[in-house]
Amino acid sequence: MGDILVTEHLSVCFSGFWALHDVDFSVGEGELRVVIGPNGAGKTTLMDLITGRTKPSSGKIWFGGHDITGKSPHEIAAKYGIGRKFQGPNLFENMTAAENLELAAAGRGTVAGTFLRSAPKSAAEEADGVLRRIGLTGKRGLLACELSHGERQWLEIGMLMMQDPKLMILDEPTAGMTEEETRQTGEMIQNLLKGRTILVVEHDMKFVRQVAKTVTVLHMGRILAQGPLAAIENNPEVIRVYLKSEDKEAPKHAGP
Ligand SMILES: Nc1ncnc2c1ncn2[C@@H]1O[C@H](COP(=O)(O)OP(=O)(O)OP(=O)(O)O)[C@@H](O)[C@H]1O
Ligand SMILES: [Mg+2]
Repeated sequence: MGDILVTEHLSVCFSGFWALHDVDFSVGEGELRVVIGPNGAGKTTLMDLITGRTKPSSGKIWFGGHDITGKSPHEIAAKYGIGRKFQGPNLFENMTAAENLELAAAGRGTVAGTFLRSAPKSAAEEADGVLRRIGLTGKRGLLACELSHGERQWLEIGMLMMQDPKLMILDEPTAGMTEEETRQTGEMIQNLLKGRTILVVEHDMKFVRQVAKTVTVLHMGRILAQGPLAAIENNPEVIRVYLKSEDKEAPKHAGP
């Protein structure tokens, strides 16, 4: 299959500092791509550019053959179908899990799906289906603020699912999770892949090993390496700038 996302010579400069420099990055349709790299490498900045949150200083971004460079975050989400989960929390705290999901559906754009869906389901029915897929059926009536950290992350993934994006971007989805929650998140993401493309930024190498086929390594605003996971893990440059320190990090806590 062809590439659904392509960046050409993408660069962004923040007051004299090049956070991304001449990045040619592409993701195939239906692929699950993992982006890794040290803190400050430019991973979130790349996601900010793809989703229109930050405008590039130069270069182009193509999605599904359309030039989306410089388009607004709303247009990129609603018209082109790129959905994103941020690094920090983004829930309606005093609404239930189910209400959060229904609200996410209400924010869905005018993507063809609204009209083409063969048997239109109500937002409540869709929310029930998503609650099952994120393992929160039993918690549908709890307020977001009553959920555990891991459950809140899953609810955010569920909110993205309600928008049914073509490309789903997840920035550090397992941050702060227990080992078991991290493993479950890996399974969830692999199940989500059917019919869409997923881009995940992660630091947790155990999770990366669970889900990744192709890995892109960013370092100091440039692509340092890209390829199959096994090749990346044996790449001396990647080991030197990133993996050596990452694998030494404190292990996750054992349980809730
Ligand atoms: N809006 C901004 N204005 C100025 N500098 C910025 C801005 N956004 C990011 N930066 C800088 O760009 C660099 C890349 O940041 P970015 O958040 O993309 O890193 P990252 O790879 O996501 O790191 P982490 O793993 O810590 O999340 C950092 O040095 C950061 O301070
Ligand atoms: Mg980041």
